[in-house]
Amino acid sequence: MTCVGIDLGTTNSLVAVFDENGPRLLPNALGEMLTPSVVGVADDGRTMLIGKAARMRMARHPDLTAARFKRLMGTTKKVSLGGREYTPVELSAMVLKSLKTDAEAALGEPVSEAVISVPAYFNGLQRQATKDAAEIAGLKVRRLINEPTAAALAAGVLDREAESTFVVLDLGGGTFDVSILEMFDGVMEVRASSGDAWLGGEDFTARIAQHLAQKADMSWSALSAPDREKMVVLADDIKRRLSTAEESHVQTSIAGREVTLSLTPDEFNDATADLLARLRRPIEASLYDSGIDIDDIDRVILVGGATRMAAVRAMAARIFRQLPDRAGDPDHAIALGAAVQAGLVARHEGLKDVVMTDVSPFSLGIEVANEINGKFLENRFQPLIERNTILPASRSDSFATVQNNQTRIKVKILQGESAIASENIMLGEIAVNVPRGERGKESIDVRFTYDVSGLLAVDVKVHSTGQNYSDVIDNLAAAMSEAEKAKRLKMMEALKIDPRDQAENVALMETLKHLHEMLLGEDREYLQQLIHTFQAALTTQDPRLIAAERDKLHDIARQIEENYVI
Ligand SMILES: Nc1ncnc2c1ncn2[C@@H]1O[C@H](COP(=O)(O)OP(=O)(O)OP(=O)(O)O)[C@@H](O)[C@H]1O
Ligand SMILES: [Mg+2]
Repeated sequence: MTCVGIDLGTTNSLVAVFDENGPRLLPNALGEMLTPSVVGVADDGRTMLIGKAARMRMARHPDLTAARFKRLMGTTKKVSLGGREYTPVELSAMVLKSLKTDAEAALGEPVSEAVISVPAYFNGLQRQATKDAAEIAGLKVRRLINEPTAAALAAGVLDREAESTFVVLDLGGGTFDVSILEMFDGVMEVRASSGDAWLGGEDFTARIAQHLAQKADMSWSALSAPDREKMVVLADDIKRRLSTAEESHVQTSIAGREVTLSLTPDEFNDATADLLARLRRPIEASLYDSGIDIDDIDRVILVGGATRMAAVRAMAARIFRQLPDRAGDPDHAIALGAAVQAGLVARHEGLKDVVMTDVSPFSLGIEVANEINGKFLENRFQPLIERNTILPASRSDSFATVQNNQTRIKVKILQGESAIASENIMLGEIAVNVPRGERGKESIDVRFTYDVSGLLAVDVKVHSTGQNYSDVIDNLAAAMSEAEKAKRLKMMEALKIDPRDQAENVALMETLKHLHEMLLGEDREYLQQLIHTFQAALTTQDPRLIAAERDKLHDIARQIEENYVI
C-alpha cells in the first residue's frame, strides 16, 4: 500500500513519493511535475478536463472552467461549471483523483493513501473539507501536514547535520504562511506559525489585471467574463515577466480593441502596495509568538511561486536583515516535504533519526457566559488550547450551569483569537443534557484533543450523571455525512474523464488555441497554421506520426509561450 505526498495548491498541485533515494516528484500524463489545479468541461459538454488542458481553456471558456477553488474550501459556496454546480470539495477531489492516477501510472502500483499538505493557517473547516475531498478521490488521508512545515521538512532532511533557527515564508497562489523553526540533530520543531488564508499571488494578479484595464481606458465592470479572464491571464504573464525584467509588455486584442498592455516595477509596486503590506502582520505575529529574536534567525527560506516577485524578496530581506535563500525549486519543496512525511508515517528506514513537531496555528475553545460583578457577560470565548501549542495536545476544563433549572448546556466549539465568541469561527456544537438544579450546581468537563493533522476531537462528560458525549470533528458542522460522501463518490465514478492516452494531444491542441487567442497579426496566422497541421496529423490516426508532430509543435508552442510577453 503506497502512501504518497500531495501538495494540493490553489494554482498548481504536485505528487511525490519517498523511497530509498529520498523524496522524488512523480510526473503527470504530460510528463510534467506541476498539474494546474483547474477543472474544465470539454466542448462536448460532458468530458471533464483536469490540469493543463483545462487551464489553457480558461481565457476562451471561463464558463466551462473552474480554477482557484481551494480558496472556497470549508465554505458552502458552489462553483458553476458547464451549467452544473460543484462544491469546492468535489472539484478538489477531481484534481486529487487525477494525481492519484498519475502516481499509480508512474509507480506501477495502486496508491490508496496520502499525506496532503494544507496551508498552516487553514482552519478546521478547511482541513476537514480537504480530508473529505481525498476520501471522495479514493485516498485515505494518513495525515494533513502544514505547508511551511512540509517545506522545512524537505529542507531539513536534505541537510540533516545543520543546526539552525529558520523561518519559512510560503506565498503561494492563494495563501500566505509563516513558520519559525528550530532544527538540531535531525529534530525539527515548529516554534510558531501564522498566516493569512486569503492572500496569495492570485490577489496580485487580480490587482494588476484591473490596473491594466484602467490604463487601457477600459472599465473593469463593463468587460465581459471572457475578456476579464483574458486580462487576468495576461496580467499573470506580465507579473511573472516582471520578476526578472525591467519592464514588461504585450500586444493583444481585448473587447474588440487592439491594445498594448505594459507595466513597470514601480507601477506594479504602487498598484499592489497594500497587498505587500499585509505580509508583514503574520511575520511579526509569528516572531512574537516564537519568542525568537530576528538576529537569531539563521536562514530565511522562500517557498511558493509568488515569492519570485522581487518586491516580496526585498521585503523579506529588509525585515530579516539577510538575503533569503531558496532551498531548491520553490514550487517543489512542499510536495517533497509531504512525501517525507509519508515516509515518516510509514516508518521508512531512511528517516529513522528524523523527528518533526508542529504547532496549532489557532486557539481553540468554547463559548461561555461569565458573571462579573453580578452582571452576566455572554458571548465570551474561553480558549482551551492556546495558539502555538505543540501538537498533539489535549486539554480539559470544567464549566457549570449559569441558570437555575437549566437542563441543557450547548458547547459551541470555536477557533480564533477574538475574546468575543461570535467573532471566531464556529467548528461545531454539542448539546449536553444535565439534571435540573440550582445554577452552578451541575457541571461538565470539556476535553479538547488536537491531533497532528490539526483536526480536533471533543469529549464532554457530565459530572453528576457520568454521561459522555464525544465528537470528533467528523461529526461536527464541517464534515459531510457518510451518505453524502457515498453520493459524491458515485458522482465521481460516473464522471467522464478525458482518456489519459489522449492527454498530451488534448493539452497541446488547447495550448495552440490559447496562444491563437492571445496573439495578434502574423503570429496569430502562424498559430492558425500550426493548429491545422496538428488537426491534420490527428486525423491520420497514426500514433507515430501524431507523436512526432506533437513533439515538434510542443517545442514551438513553448517558445511562443515564453516570448509573447516581453
Ligand atoms: N516568476 C514568477 N513571478 C511572480 N509570480 C509568480 C512567478 N511564478 C509563479 N508565480 C505566482 O505564484 C503563484 C503560484 O504559486 P504556487 O504554485 O506556489 O501556488 P499554489 O501552491 O498553487 O497555491 P497555495 O500554496 O496558495 O495553495 C501564482 O499566483 C503565480 O502567478
Ligand atoms: Mg502551495
